[in-house]
Amino acid sequence: MVDPSLNLPEPPPELAALSQRLCTRIVNEIEQHGPIGLDHYMRMALYEPGLGYYSNGLLKFGADGDFVTAPEQGRLFAESLAGIVMVVANRLNTGFDVLELGPGSGALARDLLMTLNPLPERYLMLETSATLRQVQQETLAALPAPVAQRVEWIDQPPASGFSGVIVGNEVIDALPVCSFEVQADGLMERAVALDASRFGWQLRPPSDRLASAYQKLSTDLDEPLPNGYCSEICVDLPDWFGSVTQSLDQGLVLMIDYGYPRREYYHPDRAAGTLVAHYRHRAHFDPFVWPGLSDLSAFVDFTALADAGLAQGFELAGFTTQAGLLLGSDILQSIETIANDRERLALAGELKRLMLPGEMGEKFKVMALTRGLELNSSAFQFSDQRGRL
Ligand SMILES: C[S@@+](CC[C@H](N)C(=O)[O-])C[C@H]1O[C@@H](n2cnc3c(N)ncnc32)[C@H](O)[C@@H]1O
Repeated sequence: MVDPSLNLPEPPPELAALSQRLCTRIVNEIEQHGPIGLDHYMRMALYEPGLGYYSNGLLKFGADGDFVTAPEQGRLFAESLAGIVMVVANRLNTGFDVLELGPGSGALARDLLMTLNPLPERYLMLETSATLRQVQQETLAALPAPVAQRVEWIDQPPASGFSGVIVGNEVIDALPVCSFEVQADGLMERAVALDASRFGWQLRPPSDRLASAYQKLSTDLDEPLPNGYCSEICVDLPDWFGSVTQSLDQGLVLMIDYGYPRREYYHPDRAAGTLVAHYRHRAHFDPFVWPGLSDLSAFVDFTALADAGLAQGFELAGFTTQAGLLLGSDILQSIETIANDRERLALAGELKRLMLPGEMGEKFKVMALTRGLELNSSAFQFSDQRGRL
């Protein structure tokens, strides 16, 4: 039963049936193994072949989907990132490659490739979802042939060394997370169990990986988290980061996502965590509503991301808000020079959505991690927030 107070539109019967098929698989998993971690549940709800949110072929992005990401707003986001990519390209003596993680509809790839000059030798797309790959291929079909020839889809991070830029927008928030609750006698994991007629939470002792990730984070906090405090940890983040960046010999990793530095993420006031579901442009906090039809994500602990980078020999070259990044780029000046009023106004509206604090400007952060290269980019100098980490 979906809580009517959430006020969510009913899915049509065929989509409700698809969600039901996914629920049956998750129920089987729980009946076989007992309650499963939230990370296990998210993996199935998002990536179960043919049924999971990112694997079922339904529209996700844009006005008719469930949410709108920055590259879907228009070309300005890609243009501001292109400025940073060009700083890296100019530092490297040889050609450069771009690896995009989780390219979604392919909008960022399309607009970056239309802006970058010179073009990267290769534009690699690492996408876990077969159906999204198809969407990306359709989006990029509009590119001129010499540009499109640079694009390659890959199943695994590149095995041999490369130099250039790895970029991921809203990818880390889609990685499965574990959920925990602090109790008087220690940490408990919130696992997903079968309730009377739906899924529900059940507490159990934490896995070793969750316990050690929690131990590490609690040493960084100013005060212990209070009893009853619930939140999430992406225990997979360090290994995932290591695997996607292992072959980067020289270059930059650029991650954009909603999130906080650790002390703000695990602030005593944020006692219900950051897990959020998106369904038809409505955000809510019940991860068990229509699995497969709702996106599930958690905010990013950017201190954990910086730590993962430092552990792999990266340097923290920049941390700022999305608004700071745009203000530090030359996008504002370039809009002012556009003579066509209608175009200029449309771009100013797009810029507002990307930059305003109530929209994406403050909630979204941008982190730059470099290996074997110094990054002097004005985009990170306008509002350097590394001290918050
Ligand atoms: C929220 S969407 C963001 C899409 C796109 N980057 C954008 O900004 O519009 C998350 C994307 O990450 C992909 N993804 C999730 N986990 C991934 C992983 N481990 N490796 C690569 N892509 C992944 C999803 O399939 C999806 O394309």
